[in-house]
Parts: sequence; structure tokens; C-alpha cells
Amino acid sequence: MHVPEKILNNYDLEKIVDTSDEWIKIRTGMFERHIAADSEAASDIAYQAALKALDSAGIRAKELDMIIVASVTNDHAFPATACILQKLLGAREIPAFDISAGCSGWIYAANIAKQYIENGICSHILIIGVDLLSKIVNWSDRNTCVLFGDGAGATIISKAEPSDISCFIDSHISSDGSSYDLLIQPAGGSRQPASEKTVKDNLHTIYMEGNKIFKLAIRSMNDACHIVLKRNNMDIRSIDWLITHQANLRIIEALGKKLRIAEEKVIVNIEKYANTSAATIPIAMDEAIHLGKIRHGDLVLMATFGAGLTSGSLLIRY
Ligand SMILES: CC(C)(COP(=O)(O)OP(=O)(O)OC[C@H]1O[C@@H](n2cnc3c(N)ncnc32)[C@H](O)[C@@H]1OP(=O)(O)O)[C@@H](O)C(=O)NCCC(=O)NCCS
Repeated sequence: MHVPEKILNNYDLEKIVDTSDEWIKIRTGMFERHIAADSEAASDIAYQAALKALDSAGIRAKELDMIIVASVTNDHAFPATACILQKLLGAREIPAFDISAGCSGWIYAANIAKQYIENGICSHILIIGVDLLSKIVNWSDRNTCVLFGDGAGATIISKAEPSDISCFIDSHISSDGSSYDLLIQPAGGSRQPASEKTVKDNLHTIYMEGNKIFKLAIRSMNDACHIVLKRNNMDIRSIDWLITHQANLRIIEALGKKLRIAEEKVIVNIEKYANTSAATIPIAMDEAIHLGKIRHGDLVLMATFGAGLTSGSLLIRY
């Protein structure tokens, strides 16, 4: 994982919009978030995370067979941030592309990577969830600006050796496009190209109907978890850790209750990073591994949801 240096806490936000540390903590569980510098773009943060992932996997960039970047805050509308990262890393001529699945992007990328490993085309795939939502929030809208932070989480998914305990067991991804307009950056694409008016009307920033998403998030993550558990004849009691998208502590707790998983098995770090979109799950996983919580052999279930509205789950043995 990698996050920008600058930290913005709830007290700092009190000086920007009409909010309070108490409201943010009680309603979301968040306290601080990392915010990228003006000079930092998604590929800069992703690059730092990628270097750490390569190092911990003991793999050189030249050995990568594919790079997938999941982001909604890419360096440019085109080319893909993955291609910029390919250059920064000095990777070979391999497929490098971005996917847009909102906060579910990292699980979508993992799901795609699994297919390319299983069909034998690739041996090592770098997947990265990176978002700098601070660049596209409306800093005068208290409904949204307090919720997000910046960061990246990078992962190498590799072909297993027969002796490996670790394995990618299963993953499920889905989308419900009927609610696409509940979470959207309205302008800047072909529907509403950038103009003086779109800038003046703040249409290049995040628009969200938080209340509606709240309920859908719990339902879709619960469904996604049950799909992979059922498909693998597993019971929630066999799961050692649950890592969900970190969008709101109340969503995480409600999902934990619905799934009937013990509270102490649910990984939460929302108070330190807020919602880093496609990066929340790999950041939470990295921290939990380094804190000695997740150990080799543990079964880890992950669940996500995001703009689209996308959702998904991932089951691994670490
Ligand atoms: C956004 C969210 C935190 C709002 O929490 P909530 O409990 O639903 O709060 P509401 O939207 O009902 O707002 C309650 C009140 O707090 C106010 N409020 C909203 N943001 C505030 C803030 N930052 N500080 C103080 N008050 C705030 C609202 O204006 C409203 O006031 P009113 O009752 O006078 O109209 C919550 O709905 C949420 O987390 N939704 C999911 C969002 C999400 O996951 N997004 C990412 C998807 S990947």
C-alpha cells in the first residue's frame, strides 16, 4: 500500500465545511484521511505501491505479464494509467489497461487476473486499486467531501507452485446498472464535455445519494459473500477474516451482523484512511498482514461495492 504524506483530520474539515468531528465519527467511523499533493497523480501513488508489491513478492517488473489498474481518478482520460505505470516500472511490452468499476475496481481486477492465470496465458499479474478522490470531490459539499481519502494498494497475483498454501479460491463480480446515477461524476465525458458551465455548476465533482447507496451496499455485499461461500461449500464460521470496502463503519458493522461473523474477525481501518475507493481493500489487507492479524493459511473473505453500482466478493487462503 501507499498513501500520500499529507493528513487531513476531522478538525481540519471543520474549518472547510459546516461539519464536526463528532458527526463524522458517529455517522462514518472516519477520523483522518491522506490527501495527495497538487503535483501527485494516480500513477505516482500507484508506482510506490507497485514497487513495494514487487519487492514483497520477490518479482522483477520485467517478469510481469499484465498490468491492470482499477481507478476512477486516472492521470488522464486517456491513455490508461496502467500504461504510464508500465513505463515507470520499466515493464516489458505486455497488456496494460485500466478498468472502471468504482470502489469495486480492485476485486474486479483480481477476478480478471484469475482468468488469465488459470488459462495459462500469464504467470504474474500486477493489479492495483488506486484513487485520488480528493481531486474530484466538491470541497464545499459536506455530504461528500468528508468521506474520501487518497491511496493505492498493489497486489501481484501469480501462478501457484504445488507446494503453495496460499491460493485464490473464488471470486464473484456483478453490477446493477439501473442505479448508475446514484454515484456519478456527471461531466467530463461524452455526455457532458467540459465547458465553462460544467465547471461553474460543479459537475466535474462527485454526486452521490448516500442514503440509497447505504442500503444497497449492505445488501449487495451480503449477496456477493453468500454466492462464493455457497459455491465453495463453506460456512461463514470457517472464515478467519472479513475485509469489506471501507465506506462507512455502520455499513461494515451491519454487514458483519448480517453475515453472522464475529466482530473481532472484521478488519476495520476506516478511521485512518476514510474511503480510498478502489484502494480500501488492498490497503486494509496489507495493514492486517503487517500487524500480524492475517497469517499464512488464514481464510480471508472480501466484499465490495461501488459506482455502477458494482459489487463483488473474493475468497482467498493467504
Ligand atoms: C453519506 C452518509 C455518511 C450520510 O449519513 P446519514 O446518516 O445517511 O446522513 P443523512 O444523509 O441522512 O444526513 C443527516 C443529516 O446530516 C447532515 N450532514 C450530512 N453530511 C454532514 C456532515 N459532513 N457534517 C454534518 N452534518 C452533515 C445532512 O445535511 C442531514 O441534515 P438534515 O437532517 O438537516 O437534512 C451515509 O449515507 C453513507 O455512508 N452512505 C453510503 C455512502 C457510500 O458508501 N459511498 C461510497 C460508495 S463506494
